[in-house]
Amino acid sequence: MKKIVTIIGARPQIIKSSAISRAIQSDFKEELNEVIVHTGQHYDENMSKVFFEEMNIPTPNYNLQVGSGSHGSQTAKMIEGLEAIFLSEKPDGVVVYGDTNSTIAGALAAAKIHIPVIHIEAGLRSFNKSMPEELNRISCDHMSTLLFTPTKTGIENLQREGFSLEHSSVATIDSPNVYHCGDIMYDNSLHFAKVANNFQTVMEAEKLSENGFILMTVHRDSNTDIAENMEAIFTSVDELSKKYQIEFVLPLHPRTKSKLKSQLSDSTYDQVIENERIKIIDPVGFMDIITLERNARMLVTDSGGLQKESFFFEKPCVILREQTEWIEIVNNGNAILTGANAGRIMSAFSTLFEQDNFTYPSYYGDGNAAKFICQKIVDEIE
Ligand code: UD1
Ligand code: UDP
Repeated sequence: MKKIVTIIGARPQIIKSSAISRAIQSDFKEELNEVIVHTGQHYDENMSKVFFEEMNIPTPNYNLQVGSGSHGSQTAKMIEGLEAIFLSEKPDGVVVYGDTNSTIAGALAAAKIHIPVIHIEAGLRSFNKSMPEELNRISCDHMSTLLFTPTKTGIENLQREGFSLEHSSVATIDSPNVYHCGDIMYDNSLHFAKVANNFQTVMEAEKLSENGFILMTVHRDSNTDIAENMEAIFTSVDELSKKYQIEFVLPLHPRTKSKLKSQLSDSTYDQVIENERIKIIDPVGFMDIITLERNARMLVTDSGGLQKESFFFEKPCVILREQTEWIEIVNNGNAILTGANAGRIMSAFSTLFEQDNFTYPSYYGDGNAAKFICQKIVDEIE
């Protein structure tokens, strides 16, 4: 039996982790013992607790409760807490997801004391190092022992950075094994789409109809922390909702919600609040977001997760960023990058709204990525 410590902290990691926990429960109970550590990066009930309940994720064995803070202070608290746990738990490997501060803290704390790091969602790049996530993911990849890329682009990026695609029977930090295995979030979307059929509450509560609304989220620091960008985004939404006479539903990340008033001009803020077609609601659970994604006419987002889920549920997507790590959906015409530029947002929206000949190739695997990952951990970590 091997012991792994899984690090979660931000909302998308909690969601992602359910795929591996489910695979362990169904197929690897005898081979893998999972200890879960929540760093406490996200802590509001609707950013954390809701997912454990509805996605059947085991309660974390530890919660560091680091909360919010500057990058340095938040990451440092995590590293300190995680190191102590690793020293007492003595795991065979540490699993980290994605590219958040919880990811880099887990990887750094483990690698420095010679515990193999298993990076799920490796190899993704925006090629924009002003993003905190880009620094986190590059550093994490280069201290990992097992790397699992969700896309072909991911493995090509790693190869370009010098990773060998040869596999050894035992992986080490100096001779890591890299696999392209598909996206565990595709596993999750397939699995929970069946369950979410029963969760119509959000549609009823918000009085929404199929294809009658646009689902939108915004939370990237490049959008929320620059007033001009917030202004461009929200002016566009206001105009689009009027031009197309369609509702926008925004389950807003607390980061964005707390900055609406201070970042928007008074007139835009008033217009947004008074516009009955703009519904700003609290973040919702995963069953509700899946229901919204499936029923929306289109998505507008800067979220990595929502970009892909738009593709999984065959909806076009306006991406409020200048680059994306999920470049295949842009190259295939399912999504358009607009940054926070009002003209580009309006034009991308119109193009996608009026088009109906999209294709959805299988870029993200076959829904069995989590089982593949578990098997490699069992076989290749010493
Ligand atoms: C983090 C990740 C980002 C990911 C996002 C997913 C980093 C550097 N960023 O960004 O990559 O896309 O999570 O959602 O790790 N807040 C609350 N309640 C909470 C959590 C946060 O009010 O439960 C507020 C606080 O004001 C906090 C702010 O949101 O300062 C930002 O939170 P933080 O975790 O630092 O970054 P995110 O923007 O959530
Ligand atoms: N999500 C959710 N409720 C919401 C908004 C998002 O469950 O109100 C889910 C979404 O479906 C996706 C994940 O959270 O799986 C994405 O998280 P987020 O947008 O916070 O981060 P990112 O993916 O950009 O890192």
